[in-house]
Amino acid sequence: MRIVILASGTGSLAQAIIDSVASGDLEVEIVGVISDQPDAMVLQRAGKSEIKTFIVPMKANRSDWDRDLSTLVESLKPDLVVSAGFMRILAPDFVSHFRVINSHPALLPNFPGAHAVRDALSAGATQTGATIHWVDKGVDTGKVIAQVRVDISSDDTQESLHERIKIQERGLIVATIRSLIPGLESEN
Ligand code: GRF
Repeated sequence: MRIVILASGTGSLAQAIIDSVASGDLEVEIVGVISDQPDAMVLQRAGKSEIKTFIVPMKANRSDWDRDLSTLVESLKPDLVVSAGFMRILAPDFVSHFRVINSHPALLPNFPGAHAVRDALSAGATQTGATIHWVDKGVDTGKVIAQVRVDISSDDTQESLHERIKIQERGLIVATIRSLIPGLESEN
């Protein structure tokens, strides 16, 4: 099974996938890591593991960027696209053409959007978590595949809470990709 990873930042989720593939725990081929950020650490991480990396910087014309991303991903022929810390909304055409999953640092439908950790803290929630979901045309509205809960402690900061969530997210994204393999293979 061929997967493409989309990521914008540090790439610790991508690293968890890369490590699981390297150790044989996850039987997929990572055919590319794509970032919209030229300096993203995820590109160095992927490069170290000799995974092909690609940069698609945002353009003044958003639909040009959508087309560039779509053309690139199409050329990689993925069975699954994994959005792991990719801080861009994907175009409706993209998400209807490719099978895309996303990892989100909250228990959807609670706290969608780009500030999920901050929003859970400021709402005074006592629990939050992580969600892996199919990506549809909305923002964090697609069908939930898997979730994990994380308790919020009274002395949590956004950083401490996000790091605890990310520890869970790393395991969840790997386990979820693994769980999707049989279904995706039978579609081919
Ligand atoms: C994760 O919490 C992801 O859900 C969110 O951004 C974070 C990515 O972390 N959208 P990293 O760059 O993989 O370390």
